[in-house]
Amino acid sequence: MIILGIETSCDETSASIIKTDKNGKIEVLSNIISSSLPLHSKTGGIIPEIAAREQLKYIIPVIKEATSVLKDSKKEIDYIAVTMGPGLIGSLLVGVETARTLSYVWNKPLIGVNHLFGHIYANWINKDKIEFPLVSLIVSGGHTDLVLIKNHGDIIWLGGTRDDAAGEAFDKVGRLLNLPYPGGPQIEKMALKVDKDLYKFPKPLIDSKDFDFSFSGLKTAVLREVENHKDFTDEFISHISFSLQEAVFKVLIEKTLKAVSTFNAKSILLGGGVAANQKLKEEFEKEIQNRNLKTSFYVPEKNFCTDNAAMIATAAFYNQNVIAWNKISANPELYFD
Ligand code: KG4
Ligand code: ZN
Repeated sequence: MIILGIETSCDETSASIIKTDKNGKIEVLSNIISSSLPLHSKTGGIIPEIAAREQLKYIIPVIKEATSVLKDSKKEIDYIAVTMGPGLIGSLLVGVETARTLSYVWNKPLIGVNHLFGHIYANWINKDKIEFPLVSLIVSGGHTDLVLIKNHGDIIWLGGTRDDAAGEAFDKVGRLLNLPYPGGPQIEKMALKVDKDLYKFPKPLIDSKDFDFSFSGLKTAVLREVENHKDFTDEFISHISFSLQEAVFKVLIEKTLKAVSTFNAKSILLGGGVAANQKLKEEFEKEIQNRNLKTSFYVPEKNFCTDNAAMIATAAFYNQNVIAWNKISANPELYFD
């Protein structure tokens, strides 16, 4: 089966062709991503109008390039998959309207995909088998969610952030430290330069009985520290970065492993932009080993952690939620229901 995936929920414009074999193994034939990040880097955050305008410019060239791996797109493509939400309305509309038009013109069934499912299903790319039940932690710029998945399509939301998402906390602290947007990758880089937790920031809700998160207080604790400093030396930024990662990652790991033991999960799946962080992966592996857990641990390859269309096509393959071209609509508030 051949699926064309389209993703435009935030600042990326992405299209991908995936191919599945009869065992369901996913092969990515193309995964083209055009980002307006360099523009947002200057403004310190995403300006929705600018993102959508860029996406309008790039959507057709990106789809053309992604489909260039096929000889005859109209003949070979079996399904068109597109992100319906959550995300920025103007951005989502670019993808949904384009997918709707292609579905009508090429007469192909259309699959609407929840962006958050995309982040989870990025784990199935190039993989043979993942055992259920599993616990998945989605950590991105907009979301921090823990879900229990008993089988494909059987997803139970366990908890999420009450305020800022983990990636958002990195981006906000990055801005405080005058680092370019997005802060996450910069903070990861700076933290590598030191090796001790100097500031010991609070670890919000780490012992709470639920599976919720809260990162806005942590950001305020960092702000207090930053306010007391006049010059941001490399050493200072590195220590703040290290201690921030330490606090955020300890909470993420503790809550995820609590869900694993509560529900006897056989696998743990990370997903979302923050999952691209090597330190987070290493800390998870260390803790799984320390606790002698037999749980398998999966993190998508780096380029499938941040927003991309291959994960949308993959989620569509496992959850074939076909919608008529004239019924699909973008939903910025789409969530786990
Ligand atoms: O999944 P994503 O591309 O977009 C959303 O759906 O939000 O995630 C973007 C987020 C940003 O907050 C960015 O700072 C964070 O992921 N991020 C990272 C890393 N790479 C991206 N955070 C920590 N370490 C990284 N290496
Ligand atoms: Zn995302």
